[in-house]
Amino acid sequence: MKIILKITAGLLIVLLTVASCFSCKNRTRSGTADAAGFYHEKYRPQYHFSPESGWMNDPNGLVYNDGEYHLFYQYYPDSTVWGPMHWGHAVGTDLVHWKHLPVALYPDSLGYIFSGSAVTDRDNTSGLREGTVPPLIAIFTYHNSKLERSGNTGFQSQGLAWSNDRGRTWNKYQGNPVLPNPGIKDFRDPKVIWHEPSGRWIMILAVHDRVHIYSSPDLKNWSFESEFGENAGSHGGVWECPDLFPLAVTGTSLSKWVMLVSINPGGPNGGSATQYFTGDFDGHKFTPDNTSVKWMDLGTDNYAGVTWSGIPASDGRRILLGWMSNWNYATVVPASTWRSAMTIPRKLSLYTSNGDYFLASSPVNELKNLRADSLPLVRQGNSKTPNGITIKGDPGLSRSELDLDFIATGADTVGIALENELSERLLICYSALSEEVFIDRSGAGDASFSPRFTGIVKAPYKAGERISMHLFVDATSVELFIDDGRLVMTSVFFPSENFSSLKIYPGRNGNLLQKGIVYHLNGIWQ
Ligand code: FRU
Repeated sequence: MKIILKITAGLLIVLLTVASCFSCKNRTRSGTADAAGFYHEKYRPQYHFSPESGWMNDPNGLVYNDGEYHLFYQYYPDSTVWGPMHWGHAVGTDLVHWKHLPVALYPDSLGYIFSGSAVTDRDNTSGLREGTVPPLIAIFTYHNSKLERSGNTGFQSQGLAWSNDRGRTWNKYQGNPVLPNPGIKDFRDPKVIWHEPSGRWIMILAVHDRVHIYSSPDLKNWSFESEFGENAGSHGGVWECPDLFPLAVTGTSLSKWVMLVSINPGGPNGGSATQYFTGDFDGHKFTPDNTSVKWMDLGTDNYAGVTWSGIPASDGRRILLGWMSNWNYATVVPASTWRSAMTIPRKLSLYTSNGDYFLASSPVNELKNLRADSLPLVRQGNSKTPNGITIKGDPGLSRSELDLDFIATGADTVGIALENELSERLLICYSALSEEVFIDRSGAGDASFSPRFTGIVKAPYKAGERISMHLFVDATSVELFIDDGRLVMTSVFFPSENFSSLKIYPGRNGNLLQKGIVYHLNGIWQ
C-alpha cells in the first residue's frame, strides 16, 4: 500500500513538473501564466509592473488607444544594468494587469532610444495613416553615444516612429530626426500633447535645467515657442521627463495647467525626484502661478513619472505612472534577472489652499479589484491593540493595502511597523510634535549596496487633529498616501523575507487608531 502511494505521489510530481514546464514555455510574453515559479523570485513585486527580465527605467509613451493602456519603458534587455536603450512594451485594459509584448523600438544608427511619449493621431495630421485606423505616433529622444564620446555636444535629438497596427509593430520615420539638436548637451524626453484651442501639437522638452516648448501642425515639423524655468523651482540637477496638462481644481470651476519636471540630483531626500508647477498655458508660453519648489512625491523612489495621453473625456482622469527607483542607487539595488518596477498608477488632482494650488495623488480605483479580503483592526468603540501588535505570523502583509486613521495631536507619534521573522523592520510614522512624516527603511533589509541609499526618508507635514495613512506594500516597496494624497511618499527596501507582523503605534493608551483595515492583495502575475 505504502509503495503504491509513493508511486502515485511520484507520478503526480512528474506530471505536475511536466505541466509547469509546459506553462513555463507558454508564459513567455503572455504575462498571465499561472506557473508556480513565474514572477516569484526573491524581491519580485507582485502587483507592480516589472519587466520579465533585464533593466528598466522610465515609463515611456503612455497612451490609451482603442481600449488599451500602453506602457512602454526604457529597457535594456541584455543586462540588469542600464545600457543601450530600447522601448520595452506592455499593454493592459485595467491599469493593473499587464501583458508583455515584444520590444517596440530598437536602437539604430541615429542612437539609443531614450524617453519620450506617444499619441493617437486621430485626424491623420502626420499623413502616416494607412487604411482607416488612426496611427499611433511615438516621439522619443535619439541619444547618439558615438557623437557623445567624440565630444560633440549635439548628441541628443528627437525622432518619430509610427504604428498602424495598434502599437504591435513600429516604423521609424525616414526624415528623422524631426527635431535636430541645436548644440545643447541635455536635450531630451519630449512629451507631446494635442492643444485643442490652437489646433496644434505641443511638445515640452527637457533642456539642461529648463524646459523648451515647441509646436507643430503635423508632428514632423517643430517650431520653437518658449523657454521656462530659469528662475523657477529647484535647480539641484538636470531637468528630465517633463509633462504638461490641464487639470480641474477640486471644489471649484477652475482648471489650471500643471507642469511636471523630474530632476536629478537635487531631490528632497537625495538624488532623483519630481517637482511641479501650476499656472497657465496659452499655446505658446507657460506662466506659473509662482516659482516656489513643490514636490509631487516626497519619498525617494518615484522618478520620471508622466501621464497617459488619450484617456477619453468620459473618464476624465489624469493618470500618472512613475519609475520606482532613484539614480542614486538604481543600478546597484539587489536584483536577480530583472531590475526595478513602476509605481502603482495614480490619479492626479489639484486642490487649493492659502491661495495656492497643490497636486494630490491617489491610487486608481481599479486597484480595489486586487483586494482578496479585508481585516478590520478597530472594532466598534474599541481601538485597543494589545502590546501594540495587531497581526502576527502573516507573510501576506508583504502584499497588502492598509487604510488607517489616527488622532494625532500634541506630542503624539502614530504609525506602523512591518516586521519579519528576522526582525527586519520598516517603520512609517507621523510625529505631531516635529510635524513630519518619516519612513525608516534603515533596518528593513539589505541597505549595504550603496552609501547613498537614505535610511530615513522624511517629509515636513502638518496634519489637523486627525491623519489618514493609506499604504500599498509590495515585496520591496511602500507607497504612502497621507490625507487623500496631499502628501505622498514612495520608497523601496529589500527585506530578506516577507514581513509577517504588523504593529500599530497608537500613542496614548492605544486609543489613537480610529480606523484600521488591512487588505491582502492578489498578485497580478499568477
Ligand atoms: C531619466 C532619464 C531620461 C533619459 C533616460 C535614459 O531617468 O535619464 O532623461 O531619456 O533616463 O534612459
